[in-house]
Amino acid sequence: MKKTILCIGAGYVGGPTMAVIADKCPDYKVIVVDVNEKRIKAWQSDELPIYEPGLDEVVRRARGRNLFFSTDVVAGIKEAGIIFVSVNTPTKTFGAGAGKAADLQYWEKTARDIIEHSGHDKIVVEKSTLPVRTAEAMRRILESNTKGLNFDIISNPEFMAEGTAVGDLQHPDRVLIGALETPSGQKALQAIKDIYLNWVPEERIKTTNLWSSELTKLVSNAMLAQRISSVNSISALCEKTDANILEVSSAMGLDSRIGPKFLRASIGFGGSCFKKDILNLVYLCEFYGLPEVAAYWEQVVKINDYQAERFVRKILMNMFNSVAGKKIAVFGFAFKADTGDTRESPAITVSKMLLEERAVLSIHDPKALENARLDLADCPGEISYHEDPYEAAAGTHAILVLTEWKQFRDYDYRKIFEVMEKPAFIFDGRNILDHRALFEQGFNVYPLGQREYSHLT
Ligand code: UDX
Ligand code: ADP
Repeated sequence: MKKTILCIGAGYVGGPTMAVIADKCPDYKVIVVDVNEKRIKAWQSDELPIYEPGLDEVVRRARGRNLFFSTDVVAGIKEAGIIFVSVNTPTKTFGAGAGKAADLQYWEKTARDIIEHSGHDKIVVEKSTLPVRTAEAMRRILESNTKGLNFDIISNPEFMAEGTAVGDLQHPDRVLIGALETPSGQKALQAIKDIYLNWVPEERIKTTNLWSSELTKLVSNAMLAQRISSVNSISALCEKTDANILEVSSAMGLDSRIGPKFLRASIGFGGSCFKKDILNLVYLCEFYGLPEVAAYWEQVVKINDYQAERFVRKILMNMFNSVAGKKIAVFGFAFKADTGDTRESPAITVSKMLLEERAVLSIHDPKALENARLDLADCPGEISYHEDPYEAAAGTHAILVLTEWKQFRDYDYRKIFEVMEKPAFIFDGRNILDHRALFEQGFNVYPLGQREYSHLT
């Protein structure tokens, strides 16, 4: 083997990223470690800890050949020359910056583990999303080692999205690598570039200084989220003016400067990154004395909260101002299609608000039921979970579509209508169903930012 790469943190980012690196670079040994034993056992088994289309195949090809999963963090640190750090950086829930700043305790603990157990020089790569200038703090910690070792810090943020992670990693729009502009920093940068050159065309590998790379990751997520909040804010205006958000988005997206992607109105964005990264950006702007810039970006999160709340208000208003005691089916709990991940899913907000209104919930999702159970474990109220959509719909007054799973379109809505209470409602929070056809079958249908179809007016 040419080199040994270690990844600390076997989560949604570390696991798939390293699996693809190992698959594409058979002459590198790739070890992925995590303190979570259950997670590592799952990575070693046929039931991977995360659902990601195509991932099983990639892991099966590389595992045992040059891809290894282990809980032995110390042995990994000792062996590897390149260490990717992909531990979680959640929003701080305590002390200064609570609710906005990133909680870097796991990162710092990792840096200290690296110092303690290293016996030779290493390249340390930031893979987790981090506030700009984190590398500076890391450098100080790593340079505090008394063993005379040299640690080069590289920023190599990950841009893959869940549900399409494998394809995104195999064919990235770009790979970003940031390093200090010192000879040692540039040498380390080349070592990381060499890994990607195994499958990524050189013109797609963008190199920058360390701080630009760190900031680019935060701003990329903020810009993407901002597009969604922009469209979602306009969906509210469409409902007041008989304009149709699908028509507005697609006509607007024809402008090559705007482009057609990421303009789908929804009940709001979820996922582990968008909200956390924007709040992190807001905190940084406040920290650097830029309150106007902070307020600008914070509005993106506020509109996201507003959109979910607006959706619940619409449900209440159309269901005669009360859902108490009424059974409501939630179709889709994952934060997006093709994943079982429910972190920051708008379905959590919507479900909690409806439970507060004393609705009875029956939840259906093709991959996220286990996580949904955990998310709602402490919520008072009656909740049931169903693999089968027809079972979930039985006896309900309304169906809420909260995730854009393709299969939701193919369900037999005639059959569903028959087992529901009347009047039967559908609130399509993702605009994926055929609203007119459902109306003709007897449903009262409420899309987002489009005309509603009601038999009740
Ligand atoms: C995001 C970024 O896309 C990725 O580059 C980064 O590395 C991690 O964060 P992810 O959160 O996995 O990826 O999924 P993404 O496809 O970006 O979707 C985020 C949320 O936005 C989902 O809840 C999705 O349903 C929602 N969304 C997306 C919309 O509501 N409308 C859209 O048009 C697109
Ligand atoms: P992401 O979506 O960024 O990948 P996850 O929460 O899915 O985040 O994964 C981060 C992983 O990092 C978790 O599995 C967690 O157990 C692991 N982790 C956190 N701190 C350490 C540490 N000091 N050593 C090893 N693994 C760690």
